[in-house]
Amino acid sequence: MTTFSIRTPDDWHVHLRDGAQLTQTVAATARSFARAIVMPNLVPPVCTVEAARLYRDRINAVIPPGSSFHPLMTCYLTDGIDPDEVAAGYAGGVFAACKLYPANATTNAAHGVTDIRRIHPVLATMERIGMPLLIHGEVTDADVDVFDREVVFIEQVLTSIVRDFPGLKVVLEHITTADAVDFIKESGNQVAATITPHHLVINRNAMFQRGLRPHAYCLPVAKRERHRIALRKAATSNSPQFFLGTDSAPHPRAMKESACGCAGIFNAPVALEVYAHVFDEEGALDRLEAFASEYGPRFYGLPLNPGRVTLTRSPWQVPDVVDVGGQPVVPFLAGETLAWRLQ
Ligand code: DOR
Ligand code: ZN
Repeated sequence: MTTFSIRTPDDWHVHLRDGAQLTQTVAATARSFARAIVMPNLVPPVCTVEAARLYRDRINAVIPPGSSFHPLMTCYLTDGIDPDEVAAGYAGGVFAACKLYPANATTNAAHGVTDIRRIHPVLATMERIGMPLLIHGEVTDADVDVFDREVVFIEQVLTSIVRDFPGLKVVLEHITTADAVDFIKESGNQVAATITPHHLVINRNAMFQRGLRPHAYCLPVAKRERHRIALRKAATSNSPQFFLGTDSAPHPRAMKESACGCAGIFNAPVALEVYAHVFDEEGALDRLEAFASEYGPRFYGLPLNPGRVTLTRSPWQVPDVVDVGGQPVVPFLAGETLAWRLQ
């Protein structure tokens, strides 16, 4: 096959940032995706309906001409979050979901939740109104090995959320382990997971290839090869519990190439092409459409996109660096050749 088309996909997890970066991040995502779930980990975080509305206005102001891109906003959960504010934002069509960051789990997660019991009231409200909970699933205890933090989160926190709120729609974001795949499969269809392009392509060795590779560092961190294989199997399994979410997360090159580099991989310039490459390698190109364009909207209760996108087998080289808000950012797979090109 040298060309194929699928229903226009959506990105169910992206960091568009703010300010000068928005023009390029929005264009990079709108290039491939009709809608995107926009992460709220700005400084300060997006915790109110008003903040989300203003952020959405700033995104809408830079959507490229001719694009019908539609941002879906999220509410950043804090210990003190007001359930009525969350419910009002959902009813008013501003919030599409809430995002749970355990406090200090990742970039701009300092205001995250310190103890899941503190947000039981808002989780009860969300369960009642059918609003999805999106989870960064890692514990933050310094004494838990960084490669075990997802598994320990599943054991210590996620299991109790799913047990205590059986009707709550939950997305475990950017899963990185076979354990997460198993947990999702053992849960009902109200529990799902997103899978990133980078976790399908790299394992933890990528961070240590003949030296320290900051551009392969993200959170949750890539794990052993057997986990990458489990993720590829899950993504191509045609299960409605696994769908596309890029976690595209740009940081200026200087912030990555640093003594204490930021976590995050900017994959929006290559994301759909990389998914196509992975599904092709797995002999599952016929399953890409459901993963990219059907299972996400079905989970969120949104209509499928009407349009189509076409991918052609036509090798192209990923740029070494791209401009994001006047600063150089190294994209995922910089300098490498990709087989599939988006028309
Ligand atoms: O690698 C990551 N980068 N993981 C996250 O959870 C946050 C993101 C960011 O905002 O940079
Ligand atoms: Zn993220």
